Amino acid sequence: MNSAEIRESFLSYFESKGGKRLPSSSLIPDDPSLLLTTAGMVQFKPVFLGVKDLGFTRATTVQKCVRTTDIDIIGTTGRHHSFFEMLGNFSFGDYFKSEACAWAQEYSVDVLGLDPDRIWYSIYEDDDESEVIWRDEVGVPADRIVRMGAKDNFWSAGPTGPCGPCSELYYDQGPELGCDSPDCAPGCDCDRYLEYWNLVFMQYNRDEDGVLTPLPKQNIDTGMGLERIAAILQGVESNFETDVLRTLMGKAEELTGVSYGSGEKSDISLRIVADHARAVTFMIADGILPSNEGRGYVLRRLLRRAVRHGRLLGRTEPFLPAMIDLVIEQMGDAYPETVEHHDLISRIVDAEEQRFGTTLRQGLVFLEEEVATLLREGKTEFDGVKAFTMHDTYGFPFELTTEILAEKNLTVDSAAFTREMEAQRDRARAAVKDESWNTYGGAFSDTLSSDGETEFVGYESDVSDATVVAIIRDGEQKVSLAEGETAQIVLSRTPFYGEQGGQVGDTGTIASSGGAVFRVDDAVIPLAGLVAHKGVLEAGSLSVGESITASIDVLRRERIRRNHTATHLLHWALRLVLGEHVKQSGSHVAPDRLRFDFTHFEAPTSEQLAKVERMVNAKIMERHPVRAYETSLSSAREGGVTALFGEKYGEFVRVLEIGNFSKELCGGTHVSRSTEIGFLKITSEGSVGANTRRMEAVTSFDALEWVEREEREIDETAAVLKVARLDISERVSSLVARVKELESAAQATADSLSETSVIEILEHVEDVGYPILVARVPDMKATGLRTISDNFRARMKGGAVVLAAVDRESGKPILLAAGGDEAVAAGFNAGTLIKTMAPHIGGGGGGRPTMAQAGGSNPEGIDEALKAARSLLGLT
Ligand code: ALA
Repeated sequence: MNSAEIRESFLSYFESKGGKRLPSSSLIPDDPSLLLTTAGMVQFKPVFLGVKDLGFTRATTVQKCVRTTDIDIIGTTGRHHSFFEMLGNFSFGDYFKSEACAWAQEYSVDVLGLDPDRIWYSIYEDDDESEVIWRDEVGVPADRIVRMGAKDNFWSAGPTGPCGPCSELYYDQGPELGCDSPDCAPGCDCDRYLEYWNLVFMQYNRDEDGVLTPLPKQNIDTGMGLERIAAILQGVESNFETDVLRTLMGKAEELTGVSYGSGEKSDISLRIVADHARAVTFMIADGILPSNEGRGYVLRRLLRRAVRHGRLLGRTEPFLPAMIDLVIEQMGDAYPETVEHHDLISRIVDAEEQRFGTTLRQGLVFLEEEVATLLREGKTEFDGVKAFTMHDTYGFPFELTTEILAEKNLTVDSAAFTREMEAQRDRARAAVKDESWNTYGGAFSDTLSSDGETEFVGYESDVSDATVVAIIRDGEQKVSLAEGETAQIVLSRTPFYGEQGGQVGDTGTIASSGGAVFRVDDAVIPLAGLVAHKGVLEAGSLSVGESITASIDVLRRERIRRNHTATHLLHWALRLVLGEHVKQSGSHVAPDRLRFDFTHFEAPTSEQLAKVERMVNAKIMERHPVRAYETSLSSAREGGVTALFGEKYGEFVRVLEIGNFSKELCGGTHVSRSTEIGFLKITSEGSVGANTRRMEAVTSFDALEWVEREEREIDETAAVLKVARLDISERVSSLVARVKELESAAQATADSLSETSVIEILEHVEDVGYPILVARVPDMKATGLRTISDNFRARMKGGAVVLAAVDRESGKPILLAAGGDEAVAAGFNAGTLIKTMAPHIGGGGGGRPTMAQAGGSNPEGIDEALKAARSLLGLT
């Protein structure tokens, strides 16, 4: 079976057991405690915890996963990957151990046809129940059931969250792949017993203190590595020799000219290139872009590692885009998002590869020099501060520095590196403004668990009655608030929009009938589901439990609404004008302006920008209805919603639709008719990093004001120029032409002046057996001095000149001596003269006997220089 057949067989088998076939969730988890999706269960975490009900209790998926904790091992074994696919079946409080074990056995043996005599079963050391199930219910031999400790047989996705004991299925690949140790058994590090399926009995939730509490229901979470089971079924020793990965390695062989099997090191590099190419493709397809932090950094690191291993294989030209093409060809059917974003993925990878090529060249030169010094000094540890400089100045990754040094048996002082990094982080932290509410998670999560979510009524109302649920001050819950005190207030219900999705928070007031007035300066979302109103109590006193009226600043919100809907119109128009690859990569929607960041690879032309602006304004004036509705993600997708790029899998999403031409997922607040926006003016457009552009615009009254300001400026210009507004450009062009004319006239005058001086100066020609002129000539361009010299000599038969001047452009002194063969025969030597003169003007120079020149820095020395020449020539 090839990979595609295995996927289908697994999903249909578990569908036949009542499981709902669900799509893989994004690699960006909907879970702040995880950087990347690492297992099939990630999308079901809230279901296991009992805080979400899907409406069904059995599911099956093929999940794309990225794990990088083992990044250093990847390539050195046949079974570790950064990107892999996990086949899983799940039970949410429905079937448990008996079914999970029986079906794992039935699927392995009856469907896949594995040899039952080669399957081994590990169970958690205390889990007697599983032993009974395997032995007595499933009927496997007792001597192939082994007990293991928590390290192998107790599974959790992270330090906290749902977890439980597990049972794993191993396949004995035969003693040929073994380590020959008498203790070799399932769990051994060698390749003989391949762990291919993990059945987790999700029973507990682990809290921050490590305490386990039973989950509301008993669940099943299983994970089978697609690459591992493919290796078993395809009868190959390593996952890298299974259909998809082997094809990818084939491409890497073709691109580098190095064949697999020709050396241990090159094999590692080929495996890394094939593995990382997949990770990079899928991460970008899910909306991750290379950056210096978080998941963007993981991506950048994988990308750069792939490039470097390509270099190690001798490839100096960019090659990753070709790998990406093949990844998508191989896997696009199962993962259409890679096909959809093919163009973008290629462009991002290409740009990053080019950029890293430069970094690599610079960094490697620096590193080579430093290593040479290190070895000369007989040391083996590389300075951590220098490693930091490489990271900071050249963008050369620390891991790469470490890897390269390790290849030469050298180490790095990583403590010093960490110190430098921390010092830099502190500097950065000190520079950012007060984000202190962020650290108050404790008080907010307590509020959320005791009082539940804030009901948001701000889509339909500007004012709402509610009760005070919590008052949080300096990170702690307070019972009441006194006049003059600042705090963050949580209400049972609120019309205030908490800053989210680029839209700023609302401002307004919270007032009680008892006379309390709390001024809300900002509204934020400290935790999903909770709105915190930040501000100060201006009058009265306020207590938890009190009834209040919350009112937002209506006019301000109206301006925000206009700007928010306008960003959707811009997004729509940009995609039509610049192309489908344009994706929103960030936005800021404030009352007085909007900012829209998007992916694009070059500066749009002014014609394109004008077109975008015109299209948006046409849509505004056409008075399109704007409506929002909730729907399931899959029907939103079917309805052609854009901006699903990087969106997370969730049951319900809010769709914002303008007319019948723009549909986006959006939780923001919007106008109800496009006309309300008034009109839009783009005020700036520029680059904000690789492949990201930023557009700023204003709408409505702010757009009007902007136009008025521009008009005033034009009026003032017209007044200064004394022309009508429409004649400004004509007038300016004629002025520019006139300035050019005057400049060349001035130059001509200067030249003719020096021509006059030539004639005057010629009167000072002296005789030293040949005619000689020693003179200072008027200031001129350095190149002009030579022309002057030629002019003089043309008029002085057989003569020579020694000239000095000040360069008109630089203000520095210049000297020139020149004579014909006759003068030289009579004893003239231009080179000697200039050598004698140059020190007086603070300079140096020289040349041949017939021609020499010098430049200097001290124009005051010109007279002394000429005097020195005279005395050398025997003139008084
Ligand atoms: N969640 C389990 C694992 O990743 C199945 O191994």
